[in-house]
Amino acid sequence: MDPLTIALCIVTVLFLLKLFHVPNNGPPGPPGYPVVGNFPLFISSDRSKLFHQLRGKYGDVFSLQLGSRRMVVINGYEALKEAFVKQADVFSERPTADYVSMKTSNDKGLVRCSGAFWKNTRTFSMRALRELGFGKRSMENKILEEVSVFLDVIGEHNGEAFALGRVAQISVSNVICSIVFGERYAHDDENFQKLMWMIDNHVKLLSKAIVVTFFPVVRFLPGDVTKLEALSTNYQNTNRFLQHQIDRHRATFHKDNIRDFIDAFILEEMTQGKTDYLDDENLTKVVNGLFVAGTETTSTTIKWAILFLIRHPHVQIKLRHEINNVIGSSRVPSIADKTQMSYTEAFIHETLRMANLVPFSLIHGVKHDTVFRGYTIRKEDLVVPNLESSLFEESLFEDPHTFNPERFIGEDGKLNGKEHTVLAFSLGRRVCFGESLARMELFLFLTSLVQTFKLLPEDDKRLPPTKPISGVVNYPQEFKFKAVKIN
Ligand code: HEM
Repeated sequence: MDPLTIALCIVTVLFLLKLFHVPNNGPPGPPGYPVVGNFPLFISSDRSKLFHQLRGKYGDVFSLQLGSRRMVVINGYEALKEAFVKQADVFSERPTADYVSMKTSNDKGLVRCSGAFWKNTRTFSMRALRELGFGKRSMENKILEEVSVFLDVIGEHNGEAFALGRVAQISVSNVICSIVFGERYAHDDENFQKLMWMIDNHVKLLSKAIVVTFFPVVRFLPGDVTKLEALSTNYQNTNRFLQHQIDRHRATFHKDNIRDFIDAFILEEMTQGKTDYLDDENLTKVVNGLFVAGTETTSTTIKWAILFLIRHPHVQIKLRHEINNVIGSSRVPSIADKTQMSYTEAFIHETLRMANLVPFSLIHGVKHDTVFRGYTIRKEDLVVPNLESSLFEESLFEDPHTFNPERFIGEDGKLNGKEHTVLAFSLGRRVCFGESLARMELFLFLTSLVQTFKLLPEDDKRLPPTKPISGVVNYPQEFKFKAVKIN
C-alpha cells in the first residue's frame, strides 16, 4: 500500500471514530448497528411506544444514535422543567447543522433559529403583536368575526352528518391574516385558498423531510424520496406570496397609521435602521412561521375538542350548562367570561392534554456541551422534549388515558392548579409563541360552538376513534358528526 492510501485510511478511520464516538458518560440507550446506529429501530417503531419503553429501561434521559447524530430524549415533567426552565440558558437553542432548516428558513425567522438572532426576532415580534392587541381583549373582535363565519358554515349542513374538513383551518388562519396583513379573506378567495394549500402542504412535507434532520446523509438519495426539495420549493413559493403582501404594504405605508404586523416591522426597520434581523427576508420567514405554527395546531385542537365532545356527551351537557349559566343564549361569549367558567377551562386543558398535539415538541439543541443529570450532552446533539411523557404521567394525572376534565377542578369548584402542569405548549424560553392567542381562540370557538349546536356522532354505535394519525402533529382520523342547531 502506498503512503498516500495509508494516510487516507488513517484519516477516514479517525473521522469515523469521531463521528460515531459516544462518550462514556453520554445518556444510556439501546445498542445500535454500525453506521446507522439505532436508525432502523427509530423508523420501524411507533415513536410513542418506543420512547415509553426506552424510558422504562433507561430512565428519564436516554439517547439514540441515528446515523451520525445522537438524539437525547428528555422525559417526564420534572426532568423537562429541570432542563428547559432551570437551565434555559443552555437548552433553548435549535439543533446545529439542520438540513431542513438550511433548505427552508436557513436559520432565520422565529421557529428554526437560535442565539441572539432568535432572541431579537422573538422579542421584537412579541412586543409588536402585543401592541397590536395579541392576547388582549382587542383581539377578541377579530376572533369573533371568524367564529361567526365558522358557525354559519357549520349551520349550512342543517344537522346532517359532515366532516369538518378545512373550515377550522381557514378560520384560524384568517385570524393570523387580520393580525399580519390587516385583512381577512372570504373562505373561497382564490389567493387565500392557495396560501392555505401551501401551509397544509408544508406540514405534510415536513413530517417526511424531518428524517434528514436525524440522518443527514439520506438527502443524497435520488428522486427526492425525503421530500426535502419539494419542501424547499413549497417554502419559497409561500415566501413569494408573502413578499407580495410586504411590497403592497411598503407602497401604502404611513408611519402614523400602523395597520398590522407587517407595518410594525417596517416601522421598526425605519427607526432602528436595517439590522441582521430587520429585513424583508426575515420578515417573510417570521410571517411564514406564524402561519405554519399557528394554523394546523389550533385548528386540529378544535377538531380534537369536537371529537371528545361527541365521545363524552355528559361533558358536553356540563359544558353547555355552564355556558347557559354564565353567558346565556342571547349574547356571544367573551374572554371576560373565562374567569367564571372553570368547567370550560378544565375541558380545554383536558383537550390539550389528551390531544397531545405536538408530542415531541420541536427539536432543541444545547448552546455548548453540557452535563445534565450526570450525562454529557454535546452541542451537536438533537434534544427532544418528550412532552407526551408528561401529558400522560401517572404521578401527575390519575388514570391518564381517560378523558376527564374534572381532574382539574378542586373541591371549591374552581381550577385546582393542576392545569399548569399540562405542557401542550412546551415550556421554557421556547414555549409556544402563540399560546395566548391559541387559548383565546380555543375558548371563543368552542364556547360559541357548544352554545349554538348540539354535537352528535354520525352513528351512535361507531364513535370516532381516538388513535391519532401521527406526524410532527397528531391529527384525529377524519370523522363525520352532526351539528344540530339549538332553538
Ligand atoms: C393549540 C395550539 C398550539 C399548540 C398546541 C402549539 C404548540 C407549540 C409547541 C409544542 C411548540 C414548540 C416549542 C418548543 O420548541 O419547545 C410551539 C412553537 C411555536 N408556536 Fe405554537 N402552538 C399552538 C398555536 C400557535 C399559534 C396560534 C401560533 C401563532 C400565531 C404559534 C406560533 C408558534 C411559534 C412561532 C413557535 C416557535 C417558537 C420559537 O421557536 O421561539 N403556535 N408551539
